[in-house]
Amino acid sequence: MKTLFTLALATLIPAMSFAAGGGAAPVEQDWSFKGITPDWDKEQLLRGYTVATQVCMSCHSFKYISHRNLMKAKFTEADVKALAADMDLGINDKLISQLTAEDAKAVYGKSIPDLSLMNKARGNGADYVFALLTGYEDGVPAKYAHDFENGLPDGGYFNHAFPGHVIAMPQPLNDDQVEYRDGTSATVEQMAKDVTYFMQWTAEPELLARKKLGVYIMLYLFIFTALAYALKRQIWKDVH
Ligand code: HEC
Repeated sequence: MKTLFTLALATLIPAMSFAAGGGAAPVEQDWSFKGITPDWDKEQLLRGYTVATQVCMSCHSFKYISHRNLMKAKFTEADVKALAADMDLGINDKLISQLTAEDAKAVYGKSIPDLSLMNKARGNGADYVFALLTGYEDGVPAKYAHDFENGLPDGGYFNHAFPGHVIAMPQPLNDDQVEYRDGTSATVEQMAKDVTYFMQWTAEPELLARKKLGVYIMLYLFIFTALAYALKRQIWKDVH
């Protein structure tokens, strides 16, 4: 019984992950997709989508995501058609940035990663991405001065969360960069939280369904074990 329970629990608890070397360990945030009764907040997804499409997509693609996919996240067909039309896209078109890989390489000296699966690709997923987006400094903080005696390299920006602390991505978020339809104030922190939330969904649209299934499996295991135990007592009750 105990082993069964432990096994069932083990399948539910996501694998522990570790921060990549060199970046500060990200602070754990409170996310609604965590816990055993998680849910997607449609308003927050829409805010995150706004930041993703209006800010991040000037450089990054979400090549696995089309507007149609949003219908899995409680959006209606009319919703997604209107959103896609605003971007001059059909609902089956993938979210591809206008910036080509060659141009990106020429301008930033780095290739720009696709963001669809980013939250799964990095240790500490959402917490890391949030820390990255809010982890910029103008110049090198005094604490790190000895690591950068000649200042930051050309085209490099200081970031607390990025491994090695020098990233080629300029700080992408500034206060009031987008206007949210629901009137939420677009601070850097709010936008970082929302876009990270959206990226959690793009990385794992089936997350909630999977967690629910996990809960059902655990219930099933409990009931089955209780029944088996009752049956065993019934069968053995006359044997002394
Ligand atoms: C002006 C172009 C530009 C914009 C806008 C931009 N990025 Fe980036 N991003 C980059 C570049 C360049 C890199 C590669 C950085 C490197 O490897 O040093 C990058 C890398 C990343 C990474 C990977 C970091 C890692 O651990 O390797 C994440 C995550 C990311 N960006 C998220 C975002 C999000 C979210 C937005 C929107 C809020 C955004 N970016 C907007 C240029 C951009």
